[in-house]
Amino acid sequence: MASLIVTGGVPLSGTARVSGAKNAALPILAASILARSPILLYDCPKLRDVENMLSILAALGVKHEPAGEAILLDASRADAYVMPQGLSKALRSSIFMLGPLIARFGSAVCTFPGGCEIGHRPIDLHLRGLSMLGVRIREEHGLILCDGSDLTGADIHLDYPSVGATENIMMAAVAAKGDTVIRNAAREPEIEDLAAFLRKIGCFVTGDGTSTVVIRGGMKRTDPHAPIAHRVMPDRIVAGTLLCAAAMTGGEIALDNAVPTHIASALAKLREAGCTVTAAENRVFLRAPKRLREIKLIETLPYPGFPTDLQAQFFALCTLAEGTSIIVENVFENRFKHGPELIRMGASYTQKDRTVILRGVSRLTGARVTAKDLRGGAALTLAGLAAEGETTVEDAELIDRGYERLEETLSSLGARIRRLGSTAKEEP
Ligand code: EPZ
Repeated sequence: MASLIVTGGVPLSGTARVSGAKNAALPILAASILARSPILLYDCPKLRDVENMLSILAALGVKHEPAGEAILLDASRADAYVMPQGLSKALRSSIFMLGPLIARFGSAVCTFPGGCEIGHRPIDLHLRGLSMLGVRIREEHGLILCDGSDLTGADIHLDYPSVGATENIMMAAVAAKGDTVIRNAAREPEIEDLAAFLRKIGCFVTGDGTSTVVIRGGMKRTDPHAPIAHRVMPDRIVAGTLLCAAAMTGGEIALDNAVPTHIASALAKLREAGCTVTAAENRVFLRAPKRLREIKLIETLPYPGFPTDLQAQFFALCTLAEGTSIIVENVFENRFKHGPELIRMGASYTQKDRTVILRGVSRLTGARVTAKDLRGGAALTLAGLAAEGETTVEDAELIDRGYERLEETLSSLGARIRRLGSTAKEEP
């Protein structure tokens, strides 16, 4: 297993460019199976989850290869709708392959995605939405077997604004007869990026970014010889993570390719903690205060509320914020696993169900800690940057699922951090 070795105490400084968004790239890659033209996808992040999605697409007959700074995808010869079991189990979010596979082939088979480190992760909203479009679904032997040969548009109300369910239904609805309306749809920027991509490949989608998304069935023909280019939106969670790192180390950084409006809730909390934050169109600048101040309350909510994917990073920040901060995790039921690891570094908090009350300490000390999930692992790395002494973050592969070589980005901002691979020769 890989580890990150962090020596704390260095205020971050300089400029970093934010990579393309994992949670936009994954649904867009899934949607590529609908395209009749080759796709040039720019700013697709080099992540474990993206590699897994590309392997799934290859197994379905989608050709992909590097093309300069883009990935060239060609789904013209895609010929399978049975998802490879191992890969789709490894990538939980591959569940939103169902929609495009049903739209393209009229059928789809995938493995029932397991839960993951942060919770049970049900898919009832996905399946209910697809059923309302006329998909006949059987669940047996751990598989989900979908027959969607006769899709009809429907008026679908989501009980919860699920990101994945919104994406799955959008992609299936492009092949339905008539209009589909998704009410209480997710409003995350990644939904808008997926919709922009779908329009480029000939689909009719409106209302993305609002609670009511409308998809008109059918696709405009596009030239099968003319590649269609799309640039993945910046990763707002990577941006928020790097800003937290600067805030926790008393640093001063600028981020290029960061969309301030995508993280307005997080920027407001950084200002509440005493940071000076200024923003231009696609650039964010942060200067940290001498001592971070308490954040009265963070409640994770669907967009535009505070993003659950930044909860762990702000948890780490609040361990050092003078006074008492409160965090409520409303979205996932098991997303505080970084807490006990932070206690090993000197953090102090009380947890009751989905609420933690953090009492800021003046210093954290380096320790050997273990990443329990993607964003928790990033949070432990940030704590190591601020701690006195050396921190080892084990199971760093979890971090690689959502961050392109996080240690290289942080090093470019002055951090003392290196990776220890899993080979014996590098064992400490
Ligand atoms: C997406 O997951 C993201 N993943 C998650 O990012 C993110 O945390 C989440 O949205 C919320 O913003 C990708 O986009 C690949 P949801 P998703 O469906 O689609 C419940 C990261 O760290 N729910 O909006 O799975 C569910 O249990 C990852 O990058 C149902 O009850 O999230 C959860 O409580 C982690 N039934 C809530 O909705 C369903 O059918 C939010 O889930 C689906 C979801």
